[in-house]
Amino acid sequence: MERLDRILSEAGVASRRQLRDIIRAGRVTVNGAAVRDPGAKADPAADEIAVDGTVLARPGTVVVLLHKPAGYVTSTDDPRDPTVLALLPPEHRGLLPVGRLDKATEGLLLLTNDGALLHRLISPRHRVPKGYEAWHEGQAGPEDVAAFAAGMTLRNGEVCLPAELEPLGPGHSRVVLREGKYHQVRRMMAARGMPVKRLVRTFEGPVVLGDLAPGAWRRLTEEEIRRLGG
Ligand code: URA
Repeated sequence: MERLDRILSEAGVASRRQLRDIIRAGRVTVNGAAVRDPGAKADPAADEIAVDGTVLARPGTVVVLLHKPAGYVTSTDDPRDPTVLALLPPEHRGLLPVGRLDKATEGLLLLTNDGALLHRLISPRHRVPKGYEAWHEGQAGPEDVAAFAAGMTLRNGEVCLPAELEPLGPGHSRVVLREGKYHQVRRMMAARGMPVKRLVRTFEGPVVLGDLAPGAWRRLTEEEIRRLGG
């Protein structure tokens, strides 16, 4: 057990002095209950500690951001195709992919050793936004934007949550989803008569792909993990 203000300062939330005020203001919860005493103790490995509702990553949490190239499958083992884990060094090959990207889809893929974090990120309940750039046939117009915003029904009758479609140019659009159905962007675009030719995921929650090269990876910083946590 450690002092709450110490746990939070080591996680980089704020300075010890700022944390005393943050804790006294009731903004910190331990296992769901507000704790207003900066000297109160908690177990960072076992307790769920949150600041303003954002859950702190447990010590030892590793999150890797991989720029997945086309041609790799999001799976831990595959008889035919190379898996995304083959792009990581041996010490990271036990990490679990957070959701999946299709074999042909490129871009941001997170992998982690923290099952609770993984669940929060993929649960539709938390509605974590995921951004994609799509190169496609045709040209997205106002009616397509409205159809995405209204919550589209796919060709097989599945209903999607409201999503954002932003035309970026001829045959080029940005799509933001808050769920992850099978081949969802491709199916939504196809349902609007705009089959996707190339798809790149560019962000998930607060984490952006940035200028990481295809096939390259990096570990998220403590600060990035903290911002992902809620
Ligand atoms: N939507 C898709 O169609 N494919 C992906 O890989 C991700 C979202």
